[in-house]
Amino acid sequence: MSNAVHHSGTAYDPSRIRHPHFQGLVTDATSAVSRIANGDTVAISGFASAGTPKAFAAALAERIRTVRARGGNFSVNLLTGASVANETEAALAEVDGIALRMPYQSEPTARRAINAGRMDYVDIHLSHVAQQVWEGYYGNVDVAVVEVAAITDDGKLVPSMSVGNNKTWLEVADKVILEVNSWVPLGVEGMHDVYYGTALPPDRRPIMLTRPDDRIGQFHLEVDPAKVIAVVPTSAKDSESALTAPDIVSEAIAGHVVEFFEHEVARGRMPAGSLLPLQAGIGNVANAVLAGLAAGPFSDLTCYSEVIQDSMLGLIREGKVSHASATALALSRAGLEELVDNFDLYREHITLRPQEISNHPEIVRRLGIIGMNGMLEADVYGNVNSTHVGGTRIMNGIGGSGDFTRNGYVSMFLSPSTAKNGSVSAIVPMVPHVDHTEHDVQVIVTEHGLADLRGLSPRKRARLIVGHCADPAYRPLLHDYLDRAEARPDAGNTPHILEDAFSFHTRLAATGSMLG
Ligand code: COA
Repeated sequence: MSNAVHHSGTAYDPSRIRHPHFQGLVTDATSAVSRIANGDTVAISGFASAGTPKAFAAALAERIRTVRARGGNFSVNLLTGASVANETEAALAEVDGIALRMPYQSEPTARRAINAGRMDYVDIHLSHVAQQVWEGYYGNVDVAVVEVAAITDDGKLVPSMSVGNNKTWLEVADKVILEVNSWVPLGVEGMHDVYYGTALPPDRRPIMLTRPDDRIGQFHLEVDPAKVIAVVPTSAKDSESALTAPDIVSEAIAGHVVEFFEHEVARGRMPAGSLLPLQAGIGNVANAVLAGLAAGPFSDLTCYSEVIQDSMLGLIREGKVSHASATALALSRAGLEELVDNFDLYREHITLRPQEISNHPEIVRRLGIIGMNGMLEADVYGNVNSTHVGGTRIMNGIGGSGDFTRNGYVSMFLSPSTAKNGSVSAIVPMVPHVDHTEHDVQVIVTEHGLADLRGLSPRKRARLIVGHCADPAYRPLLHDYLDRAEARPDAGNTPHILEDAFSFHTRLAATGSMLG
């Protein structure tokens, strides 16, 4: 705090705000959000638990409460990178302050508001967000609120712990509020690669990224100083991702995945040792699978993914992963401490990019990504529901899973075979909502085994998924369904009994268990 000074009642560190123009804009969050109007579209930084503005949401929620107490109305449309810190999502959802939310959330208060029809939710592929906003599908972006680690003496912005859509928000918004967070270690500078070469058709050019560690952009974000209306100093930590230690189920899944990779190497489909660049979704299973790779016979692995979780830091530290590219660092408390204490090590091995690059279909296809994502349920033919419980109630959203699944070299879905203490089977006759079709899903893995669906007809896939992946308690019901469907005279290529296809879901609704 040696050089901390006070300005407009707010403590700030001038070494973080090195340009005089921006120093003159320092204010607090309450006065910054007073420039946001009812009905505005507000685009904020943040991706998973990393890089969400720390002061904005509480201040805006307070403003909404004040306006409502006076009999007025106030809500905004909220655009983000993906999910943001839970406290931010909750603060605005609790006051019903969000009219429209895009592109992803994973927070219970927001989820309830969406499922009750009080918040419009547009659930889209994360690689699509920037271009759809540029195309104007969401109207004008009035205000961007972006967290940065520092403003350089030539007015450039040092990104914080995620990049997400920040480049786009700073470009498209009419007005910009910058939160300068002095908690973010300055060691983060140099970890980012912000690519400014994207364009809309017909002006697109190839994106010349051919390895996960390629650098094609610049360290800093840029902003037109004339658009910046406020600079708000903050000093709060990123929120922590809740991760539990790998359990017997996630370890069994990890074991099947490692065995599959060894099989692929033996067949000459992947290089021994380094495999192909890995992508892993968010959550405990993905974290456990990556941790499981530490025990496998692999070295010089790379990762081209959306987020970096704790297990990736372990793989880097142990020398198993030579480079990890992502758009955000989504770490637990222990992971954050490990990163902050060893920034010099991790900066050499991690690159954070805009999400339109981390999830870009062109790059995912070129690099030959191994995609590993979670699911709610899969049907016997390999169609996957990642988003809608019972076909209607949103859980989180599709996130980046479609970007990687549709374009990956091998597209895998990993899940426990049951949910809710065994009352729900993750393998069902027909999914009531499809996010990833049978044409994209290549491998399904549960704790019971792995179904490699590549090259198989629907009937063969069905028997493999049931026999290898379904919980044994559900296999007789699923085989019975398939037996009856295949026996029909009009069974066709993909046998179903349409009047019976959702029998698992109707039993669950009627009795509380898919077993009946
Ligand atoms: N029916 C009802 N609920 C189900 C279910 C099913 N078939 N399968 C899982 N659930 C519930 C679990 O019970 C759990 O609920 P709880 O939080 O109340 O305990 C919750 O869904 C999460 O399940 P979990 O087994 O812990 O898995 P997860 O954390 O890996 O999440 C998804 C699974 C599908 C929700 C998650 O992977 C997701 O949101 N995927 C889509 C986005 C994505 O893939 N992003 C990464 C791309 S890079």
